[in-house]
Amino acid sequence: MGRDHGRESSAFDAVAEAAGGESAGAGHGALDVVMEGLRRLEYRGYDSAGVAVISEQGIESRKKAGKLSNLVGELAADPLPRSMTGIGHTRWATHGGPTDQNAHPHLADEGRLALIHNGIIENYAELKAELTDQGLTFVSDTDTEVAAGLLGHLYRTLRDQGAEGDLLTRALQQACQRLEGAFTLLAIHEDQPGTVVAGRRNSPLVVGLGEGENFLGSDVSGFIDFTRRAVELGQDQIVTITPDDVVISDFYGTPAEGTEFHVDWDAAAAEKGGFASFMEKEIHDQPDAVGQTLLGRSDTAGNLVLDELRIDESILRSVDKIVVLACGTSAYAGQVAKYAIEHWCRIPTEVELSHEFRYRDPIVNEKTLVVAISQSGETMDTLMAVRYAREQGAKVVAICNTNGSTIPRESDAVLYTHAGPEIAVASTKAFLAQITAAYLLGLYLAQLRGNKYRDEIADVMADLAAIPAKIQTILDNADTIKALGADMANAKSVLFLGRHVGFPVAMEGALKLKELAYIHAEGFAAGELKHGPIALIEQGQPVVVVMPSQSARDSLHAKVVSNVQEIRARGAITIVIAEEGDTSVEAYSEHVFYVPASPTLLAPLLTTVPLQIFALALASAKGYDVDQPRNLAKSVTVE
Ligand code: F6R
Repeated sequence: MGRDHGRESSAFDAVAEAAGGESAGAGHGALDVVMEGLRRLEYRGYDSAGVAVISEQGIESRKKAGKLSNLVGELAADPLPRSMTGIGHTRWATHGGPTDQNAHPHLADEGRLALIHNGIIENYAELKAELTDQGLTFVSDTDTEVAAGLLGHLYRTLRDQGAEGDLLTRALQQACQRLEGAFTLLAIHEDQPGTVVAGRRNSPLVVGLGEGENFLGSDVSGFIDFTRRAVELGQDQIVTITPDDVVISDFYGTPAEGTEFHVDWDAAAAEKGGFASFMEKEIHDQPDAVGQTLLGRSDTAGNLVLDELRIDESILRSVDKIVVLACGTSAYAGQVAKYAIEHWCRIPTEVELSHEFRYRDPIVNEKTLVVAISQSGETMDTLMAVRYAREQGAKVVAICNTNGSTIPRESDAVLYTHAGPEIAVASTKAFLAQITAAYLLGLYLAQLRGNKYRDEIADVMADLAAIPAKIQTILDNADTIKALGADMANAKSVLFLGRHVGFPVAMEGALKLKELAYIHAEGFAAGELKHGPIALIEQGQPVVVVMPSQSARDSLHAKVVSNVQEIRARGAITIVIAEEGDTSVEAYSEHVFYVPASPTLLAPLLTTVPLQIFALALASAKGYDVDQPRNLAKSVTVE
């Protein structure tokens, strides 16, 4: 806010703004800031939304189940008074279904305090019993209302004791000491207009620095319209924003500092830019996402330089195992990277789903390099796995797309992907950027350990540099794959086959279809078919095949051609993604979509793109919201 609309303080998934008084001649007011922030953050969770502001009459709140548009309707029907301080939230239900009642904010201290929350409070049942004994009543099923009740109770106790000063901050410090689990809490109290307090443990929160106003958000997109100056907070910290000040402490009141950073993208990067959906736009951002991630990685002598990788070279030389930790699409990026890293560096590389990792007693020590891949940098499963790996002595490099997020902060080093903000829930451009960054890491290790000569690395870098233009060619010629996707809108199931690096690509293609079109889709290693899955093939079953290049190793291509013949003989409709010039597949395919030629290991950066377009077209033809698929949230900050 600020400048043309006065001095304000507010907070956002969680969003807040705190600004100065009406006397400053405010324009929009905190509600507009908060609603704009919620619009930008809705991708993080979208089953209910709510806001609260402090007006002259005290705290006033509106909340509504369903998408943000329902809250907009509610505010039109029952407007809130003008205010300079507000908080807002979009929810992804954990405790209690997505109802009006369970939506945030939750009120306490007889309606004088409002609180919003991300995460899960693990000891909420015990706290609820304790507060109920003290006479408090609760109207929702949520753990959040218990946090609000606790904060209200602690605030009142301080007030009744005659305490002076910023009671809300002190009460929140005390409350955070009592809470277990993962949380970001934001609260306002009508006794302290112009103040928003927040506390975080294992859950994201960033501060936006304005002029005469300050902001809080689950990520910077919550306030990107108003400032690009942001502050990253540490673990277990409390922050109090007022129009002119940002004060940080730990849960015990000891002053602390955050780290200021500049957001290197602007609000336009988080807009649809003329596309029908964020997902479509982000698919089209991919040439840039790969190009930007490659930018500035070589010195004039042709050496690969990864400035951010601040791990002692002697440690990187002594690594005897790499473990990639990630979830979902990011884990598939890791699986692709495994082929390249093992080939280039000759270091055994495992890829493990983060949520499985620490429960299997993994063999990890000082000679293990962990690569944690996360678009958001906030995925709780991956964060916990990172912590576990570091406890075992491993060094952790994060590959991450989000500045100021937790996983890079808790890792030994970070390699940022420069894909720009990814808003659509289904990951697209981050996937390609993650593969690119992991390849850079692999090449860097190969250079450092002498597995590859400088000219060999330069050759791969030149091949990588050619990828953005090749992706663009696919995007410019996507009409047939789009039409095919739309034609398949009635399919009940689609299978995906791939081999070698095409295997994780097949799984990624299937995941896109599952999450966007809500149909059964599965990716298989083509060689595995005959060991069972071929039983699924019946007349008319669509099967998408990621065909290896004819120049791929050994007889990989011929083997996949055989697999295609086997399934066709059993009635499958085959859709083959092949390298241009590979006419050999035409005889065996109902549909062929060609991508430009590339070295085998780089092919996933191309073959994935038609699968994304296919899923987008199929889901759109079914009339589904591709940006916000049901039951999902962009940032999975609970375990
Ligand atoms: C699928 C998708 C998810 C994420 C996964 C990890 O399209 O987006 O599978 O890849 O939740 O998220 P990050 O990369 O943020 O850790």
